[in-house]
Amino acid sequence: MFQADLLAGKRILVTGGGTGLGLSMARRFRELGAAPVICGRRPDVLEEAATALGGAETHVCDIRDAGAVDAMLDAIWQAGPLDGLVNNAAGNFIARSETLSPRAVDAVLGIVLHGTAYATLGCGRRWLDAGHRATVLSIVTTYAWTGSAYVVPSAMAKAGVLAMTRSLAVEWGGRGVRLNAIAPGPFPTPGAWERLVPKPEIAGMIETRNPLGRPGEHIELANLASYLMADFSAYVNGEVVTIDGGEWLKGAGEFNFIGDMMTDEDWAAMRRGGEGK
Ligand code: HXC
Ligand code: NAP
Repeated sequence: MFQADLLAGKRILVTGGGTGLGLSMARRFRELGAAPVICGRRPDVLEEAATALGGAETHVCDIRDAGAVDAMLDAIWQAGPLDGLVNNAAGNFIARSETLSPRAVDAVLGIVLHGTAYATLGCGRRWLDAGHRATVLSIVTTYAWTGSAYVVPSAMAKAGVLAMTRSLAVEWGGRGVRLNAIAPGPFPTPGAWERLVPKPEIAGMIETRNPLGRPGEHIELANLASYLMADFSAYVNGEVVTIDGGEWLKGAGEFNFIGDMMTDEDWAAMRRGGEGK
């Protein structure tokens, strides 16, 4: 689908790039000629990922710590500027919201909202000062706009990241820095499923209750991310692209669910009724 050099010469930081979707995106970016840089809190995970990628710059960094993010960006910039940032790192778990402690709320908001802001503003400041063209891509979720029960801090934080994306797309777009987001539906990863999926039957529902009846494949999201990081998408700015097989729309439409409950006889009876027979 893509030219092999689509991302050649681009240095792209993927936060949380040591696991899951972040690692899948970093792998695809590298296949397409980019130099991925990955960060996360666990050095062993990053080292293993760098080996799996066939080489990648790694930085141990807790993005909740603004000073640590700045120090990481200084270290990265020593070898030259980044050309892209993928805000992928996240924290999340299901819980009844009334049981959440302040530390639990802060843990999720700290990673998703504050960490994303620190990374984006830190990179943006450096790019704008140097007049360097660059792209930011943030991984949100479809419940950034619908909200979702049982993951309220995550929904609040992802909504904030979407607001940041749209706001900065306007503020920085004319100065060479564009920002977009991807809103994925279910893409099974160990990190997400162990925190969000309590039983196999719930996994089955999450993965199949979309019009396509299947979960997303990592390569599908990685290809979308590659397009949005590439210069071919230069006129896409401030957009959020949903990749969920139609899942959230299926949940939203008033009559969407009835197809599974209607027999041929039910449809025929409705038609006879409508024709007044
Ligand atoms: C209630 C919980 C909890 C749970 C943690 N806490 N897990 N409360 N239910 N399941 C509380 C703790 O008791 C503690 O509060 C506070 O949260 C901080 O917990 P720590 O373990 O000390 O925090 P920390 O080590 O910083 O870990 C952060 C984390 C953890 C978010 C809690 O899960 C993490 O590291 N996650 C990173 C990876 C991740 O979440 N990946 C999934 C992204 S998936 P107290 O008050 O007791 O001290 C995603 C997809 C969404 O976003 C869409 C899917 C379709
Ligand atoms: P994952 O494997 O758990 O990825 C989360 C990554 O973030 C980990 O590598 C983790 O590494 C890193 N991270 C967490 N806290 C961090 C911190 N404070 N500082 C730096 N790095 C941190 O989960 P995933 O499923 O691939 O999720 C990736 C992204 O996709 C997230 O933004 C998620 O919200 C989004 N998403 C996923 C799905 C899905 O179905 N999987 C659906 C919608 C959206 P360390 O723990 O080593 O720090």
